Amino acid sequence: MTVSVRPACPDDVPALSDLAARTFPLACPPGLAAAAIDAFVAENLSEAAFAEYLRAPGHTVLVGLDKDGEVRAYALLVDGTGMDPECASVLTGLSTVGVSKFYVDPALHGLGVAGVLLDATVATARQAGASSLWLATNVDNARARTFYVRNGFVERGTRVFTVGGTENNDVVLEKPL
Ligand SMILES: CC(C)(COP(=O)(O)OP(=O)(O)OC[C@H]1O[C@@H](n2cnc3c(N)ncnc32)[C@H](O)[C@@H]1OP(=O)(O)O)[C@@H](O)C(=O)NCCC(=O)NCCS
Repeated sequence: MTVSVRPACPDDVPALSDLAARTFPLACPPGLAAAAIDAFVAENLSEAAFAEYLRAPGHTVLVGLDKDGEVRAYALLVDGTGMDPECASVLTGLSTVGVSKFYVDPALHGLGVAGVLLDATVATARQAGASSLWLATNVDNARARTFYVRNGFVERGTRVFTVGGTENNDVVLEKPL
């Protein structure tokens, strides 16, 4: 299974929001209340939120489409440290791009789709002149941490990330480009 990756367009918004709502819980720590997850999804992953990400300066949404044209993966990139300025102090890249969201349909985990999405993410960041990519993921998200480290991300520090009013501990990773 592979996907083709391209920048998202307004027609993708309903499918993006649906995939995002289905996959966000997979990145949450065990025990995080469903109400907190629901609140985060409603505020940040609605169709209105994705429509705004497509319009917002410094934001790029990439979509991965299967052979039938279905949205099966997506990434949201934010130039610089705009997604969490407090993380700037632990990053080493002079010019960086943040990966705010990076999600693959669970039916396609372990099949190389995430690698294709990451290749497109790297290419997008390089085109923008970035010298690194950075992101943060929950400390208990072992699958994602393994994937990122295998793909050249280095752990730089930690941060606190609030989901629906509940504070969670994230690890901050950076990949030199
Ligand atoms: C993170 C994500 C994009 C990675 O894609 P993927 O297709 O699952 O990645 P891969 O299977 O190539 O790599 C995952 C690695 O974790 C390993 N792994 C799987 N479950 C694991 C676990 N419970 N603990 C530790 N490692 C685990 C796999 O064996 C694999 O390692 P390997 O390639 O060395 O064998 C995907 O899992 C995903 O969308 N997860 C849900 C959303 C998410 O967490 N996104 C990141 C938010 S920042």
